[in-house]
Amino acid sequence: MQNILVNVNGDIHSADKATVSVFDRGYLYGDSLYEVARSYDGIFLHLDDHLYRMEKSAELCHMVLGQPTELYHSEIYRTFAEFRKLPGHAKTEAYCRILVTRGVGKIGFGLNCILTPTQYVIIVQPVEPPSEEQFNHGMNLQISKRLRNDARALDPAMKSGNYLNSLLAYLEANAQDCDDAVMCNSDGHITEGTTFNIFYIRNNILATPPLDIGILDGITRRQVIRIAGEMGLPVREVRFPRERMDEADEVFMTGSVKEVFPITRIDGKPVGSGKPGKLTREIAKRYRQSCWDVVALERNAKKSKAHAR
Ligand SMILES: Cc1ncc(COP(=O)(O)O)c(C=O)c1O
Repeated sequence: MQNILVNVNGDIHSADKATVSVFDRGYLYGDSLYEVARSYDGIFLHLDDHLYRMEKSAELCHMVLGQPTELYHSEIYRTFAEFRKLPGHAKTEAYCRILVTRGVGKIGFGLNCILTPTQYVIIVQPVEPPSEEQFNHGMNLQISKRLRNDARALDPAMKSGNYLNSLLAYLEANAQDCDDAVMCNSDGHITEGTTFNIFYIRNNILATPPLDIGILDGITRRQVIRIAGEMGLPVREVRFPRERMDEADEVFMTGSVKEVFPITRIDGKPVGSGKPGKLTREIAKRYRQSCWDVVALERNAKKSKAHAR
């Protein structure tokens, strides 16, 4: 727990000193939202998109965020600036998790039980992106027996702190010697992974489940769809059964921390050659490049803003 800083409602602490109330509804009911962003050379990639998605999540769970997104933005960078001052290696890269809860209060669901405004926590810690070796090895993915939450019950488009559905699928996959899991819906269609979106490639066509099946609108997913378009690779956002994954030439997952990461085995059986595929490698390379391009643009925009002052 070293090298971690935690901002609790504006006060920055080391990990061992940061505390929240046991009466926080995030703790009592999972009544919270969160986002995860990763920095590249000191810039949190697509941070505005993450904060916009948090606003959308808040709408979906009838929560008033309580603070403007500009405040979360500046508090993230303030916590990050302190993180970079910690002794040790040069910390330009970090993982940032921002959580907002509906508040602290008496036990009970009613809004009249809540005694505080929404509470927030920002955790900044070293990021651990996968190594090249891990990328080359890829992931063994289980197609979970556990169903993804139905959007009519708990909409996966809302990035809430209630992650038991994904967490149980993950633990169950681990218990069966798989690295992670992807879940189907009650129609038997693949939806998304525990903390990632999923793509497969067959005959040079990229396929991924559509948003309206009930998945998170992944920020990396969006970028990958754009990149595939630039590569001239057809993209189909379609419903498909689990069997389709067995016929895939390549499968990969997308997420802000792992970026584009190959799935080389499904339920222990190799996908294609059992090695990361050519197109997966190319998309991953282009995605990484696009991250640095965005960072360069943001850095220039910040410089021009500073000059104009
Ligand atoms: C359920 C789920 N799907 C997809 C994603 C990927 O989203 P993003 O690419 O915005 O990180 C996440 C990220 O945490 C997730 O939890």
